Amino acid sequence: MRLLVITPTYNEIDNIEPFIKAVFSNIPADAAILVVDDNSPDGTANLAEKISADYPDRLLILNRKEKEGLAAAYLAGFNHAWNGPWDVFIEIDADFSHKPEYIPVMLEEIKTHDVVIGSRNIKGGGVEGWSFFRNVISKGGSIYSRIILGCPIRDLTGGFNMWRKDALIKINLSSIISQGYSFQIELKYKAYRAGCSIKEIPIIFSDRKQGKSKMSKKIFLEALLNVIKIKTDNNPSLLEFFKFAVTGGLGTVTNLIIFFLCADLLGLNEIPVSIGCFLIAATQNYFINHFWSFKKTTASILPSFKKWALFICASLGGLLVNITVMKLMIIYLNLPYKFIAQACGILAGMMINFFISKYVVFKKKGQ
Ligand code: GDD
Ligand code: MN
Repeated sequence: MRLLVITPTYNEIDNIEPFIKAVFSNIPADAAILVVDDNSPDGTANLAEKISADYPDRLLILNRKEKEGLAAAYLAGFNHAWNGPWDVFIEIDADFSHKPEYIPVMLEEIKTHDVVIGSRNIKGGGVEGWSFFRNVISKGGSIYSRIILGCPIRDLTGGFNMWRKDALIKINLSSIISQGYSFQIELKYKAYRAGCSIKEIPIIFSDRKQGKSKMSKKIFLEALLNVIKIKTDNNPSLLEFFKFAVTGGLGTVTNLIIFFLCADLLGLNEIPVSIGCFLIAATQNYFINHFWSFKKTTASILPSFKKWALFICASLGGLLVNITVMKLMIIYLNLPYKFIAQACGILAGMMINFFISKYVVFKKKGQ
């Protein structure tokens, strides 16, 4: 099997030379490296070109015009190498966070698997040198992705992964919707869905010593949203449901704020206040659902009093289901805590409200 190491670079001038040397000393003689550089202002690509004279035909450089994110860089890399002699690819960061010494271990495993993942989140793996905050973000992101996607891979976000070409063919790279770091999550999730055999090996990830991380708040938020997009790709109803649930959450926040202002600060009677809060929050939900959650179906229709009234009824119906399910569960099941019954009630009420909203309130004429 012939290996191609693909490394995306953006401003890695201090890392690129030692990194290339370290990789070459850990890969077989017939393996090559492809550097995918997004026109780094610090001249990373030029330096790589210079070094390539020492490794004829073994160090390839793909110069891209603009910084378009990690996904675009990797996709361009795979595309560039697709018709070459390689049948195994490895993704690796150019900043020594991914130690090249693990490559031989991964090569051993790829003999019997379609995908080998360098994993920080299994026994023997871990992270060195990251701040508490960065650790929380990474762990949180990984758990969040695993829950949303229902995928058992422990390190979904990591970027140190080896792929057989066959696995990439099964995934179908043209279906990738990510631009940034969620690319790593999407590739692994799609490999899992495609039935690839996946092996996680423990790695210690150490924070870079030179240069800066390209991770930003924007890239992080994009990744969070993309996980939902990945999950709901080809399933618009599920996306509608996620949006509907987010809208419900916002409504609850509004409800609580107004309740606090009126009942606690102004000292008004909580029963009418609670009813008022319900109406205001439900109205807010109505508009957000109209213009966002069900945008595709309602785009050509204006909000109307009749639809608003219908939505209030659907919300009341949801509340009724919520209370009924909660009460029945408390009566008939021997639950250790009542709030478990309330949680199930909320979920059931939300489902009912969602279906009435989708198929009655926000239904487009003629649909
Ligand atoms: N060509 C190109 N274009 N390269 C990029 C871009 C881009 O837009 N953004 C980042 N890179 C390169 C960097 O130069 C580096 O070689 C590698 O991609 C990883 O970028 P870092 O900025 O060092 O990422 P990190 O250390 O914060 O993130 C690490 O953890 C993430 C979460 O686990 C990486 O391992 C990521 O792959 C991983 O998703
Ligand atoms: Mn890094």
